[in-house]
Amino acid sequence: MKRILSPSILAADFTRLGEQVGAVHEGGAQYLHVDVMDGIFVPSISFGMPVIKSVRKCTDLFFDVHLMIEKPGRYIERFAECGADGITFHIEADPDNAGEIINKIRSTLSLKGKPLRAGISVKPGTPISAILPYAGETDMILVMTVEPGFGGQKLIPETVDKVRTLRAYIDSNGLDTDIEVDGGINEGNISAIVSAGANVVVAGSAVFKGDISENVRKLNKLMG
Ligand code: DX5
Ligand code: ZN
Repeated sequence: MKRILSPSILAADFTRLGEQVGAVHEGGAQYLHVDVMDGIFVPSISFGMPVIKSVRKCTDLFFDVHLMIEKPGRYIERFAECGADGITFHIEADPDNAGEIINKIRSTLSLKGKPLRAGISVKPGTPISAILPYAGETDMILVMTVEPGFGGQKLIPETVDKVRTLRAYIDSNGLDTDIEVDGGINEGNISAIVSAGANVVVAGSAVFKGDISENVRKLNKLMG
């Protein structure tokens, strides 16, 4: 199964965003993780469409857009128009319409002319069972390893078991759904989280602090 590192630009220096995205690319990452926060679903507000649109002009990297917003179904087309390649939303943000939102994401085309990849996410307090009904119809499941809302937090150890449970479910059902993890991943714990079953790994601080390309290379190597 492909293993992918998805550096989160939330931890970037926004005065040098284009240059730092270039460094991520040079280090060999295939994804760029784009955290959108609305101040309602999570307490913080990050950035939105104009920023994503600008970054799209300077890279071909896969834009892995993580929506931490209420009623995410409202904004699928808009994020596709800004350059999203995949959109992940939280089941907690609209639990009654999750199936519909997945369909909407998958039937929307990216600027590259491909159907968007759909992801569904669970916060640390939401059991994996909440998203299992969608496991076969989504491209990726994001298991949050910190409480969403801020970069630079510590990974919550209990979330590793959720990844393990989910990997067992996906494999035993013959599915090829990606498992993404997000929050507090660094050189010290990336191997363990990959062994637990994650194959798409988000890293913010661990990539953007220090030598970005070198950090990407190191983390990629540790993913195996
Ligand atoms: C948290 C965000 C994460 C965050 C990860 O709400 O979804 O993507 O940027 O940052 P680190 O790797 O610093 O925990
Ligand atoms: Zn994220």
